[in-house]
Amino acid sequence: MQRPNYPSGKDLLGADSVSRDDLDDIFARAERFLAEEDEEDSPGDQPARLHLIRRRPKVIATLFDQRSTRTRLGFQAAALRLGHQSLDVYDTDRSRMGSATGETLDDHIRTVEAYSDLIVVRSHTESLPYQIGRLSYLPVVNAGNGADEHPTQALIDLFAIRKLRGDVKDLSIALSSDTRARFALSFVKMLRLSPPRRFTLCSLPDVPINPPMREAIALLASLGCKVSFVHDVRDTLEHDVLIIQMQDMSRFAHASLGSEAIDKEIETEPFTLTAKKILDAKSDTLILNPLPRFAELDVSCDALPNAGYFRQVKLSLPVRMAILERMLLGIPWTG
Ligand code: CP
Repeated sequence: MQRPNYPSGKDLLGADSVSRDDLDDIFARAERFLAEEDEEDSPGDQPARLHLIRRRPKVIATLFDQRSTRTRLGFQAAALRLGHQSLDVYDTDRSRMGSATGETLDDHIRTVEAYSDLIVVRSHTESLPYQIGRLSYLPVVNAGNGADEHPTQALIDLFAIRKLRGDVKDLSIALSSDTRARFALSFVKMLRLSPPRRFTLCSLPDVPINPPMREAIALLASLGCKVSFVHDVRDTLEHDVLIIQMQDMSRFAHASLGSEAIDKEIETEPFTLTAKKILDAKSDTLILNPLPRFAELDVSCDALPNAGYFRQVKLSLPVRMAILERMLLGIPWTG
C-alpha cells in the first residue's frame, strides 16, 4: 500500500515547533472550547448542542512508556470531549514491541498508525517522539520525552497564566525548578513568543544552569525581558506568577524525614513554598505547578487564593482539545 507523503509541520515535538500564529490559534480554539462548555451547561439551542456532540470520531493513540496521570488522562478526555476515541498503548510491556520477541519500532508504529489518526507519545527516552514522527505519516504529539521537552505542558501553562492573571507580556513571572526539568525548558522556550516584562529563575545556587535553559533565558533577555536569578522561593513572592516544581530532590533535607520533622524544616527550606511564607510576604502571586507535586509545594498553600494549580489542570482540557483539533484538521505547526 502506498503511504502518504509526510506533510511538513505535522508534529508537535518541542517549543520550537510553535510559532506566535500557532499559539494564538491554540488560544482561540481553547477559548472556543471553554465557551462551548458554558453553552453545553446552559439550557438552550438543541441543534447547536447536537452539532457539538455529533462529530465524526477519530482515534487517538496514546503511546506512553513512562508514568503519567494528567497528560494521558487529559489527552484521552480531550479526545472524548471532541467526540473522538482513544486507544491506550501506554503499557508497551504488554504489546509485542516490549516482548521478548521484540517487534521493531517500525513495525509497531506501522500497526498503530493503521488503527489511529494521531499518536501522542510519552517516553523516558528523548528520541522516541522524534523517531515516531519520522516513521509515521500521522501527526505526533510529544507528551514529554526524557529530559528534553514537554511542549503541551508549556501551552497549558501559558493558557493558564492568560486566563488566571492576564497577558504574559504585562507580567513578572518566576520559575522555581530544577533547570533540567523538561516542562521548565519548554515553558521558558515558549515564553519567547510573548516575553514577560520580567523573568526570574529560582534554582539551587551550587548547580550550574542546564545549557539549553541558559540559552532560552538569554533569548528572553535579548528580547527585552528583565532577567534575574535567585536562590530562595521567598524572593519570588512579589512576582505576578510563580511556577514551582521540585529542585533536585536528593538535596531536600527533609525529604526523607518524618512528618513532624518536615513541619519544623519547611519554613527554613529555601525551595519549599508554604502558606506561612505566602502570608508573611503578603503575596498575591498566582502559584502554578504542572503537578505532580513533590516537597516543593506544601499542602497548606492549597487553601489560599494564590493556589492556581488545580484550576491549571482544569484549563488543560480545552488546550489539549485545541491541540488535537488543529492537528486532526492537518494544520501544520509553523515554528
Ligand atoms: N504535568 C504532567 O505532565 O503530569 P503527568 O506526568 O501526570 O502527565
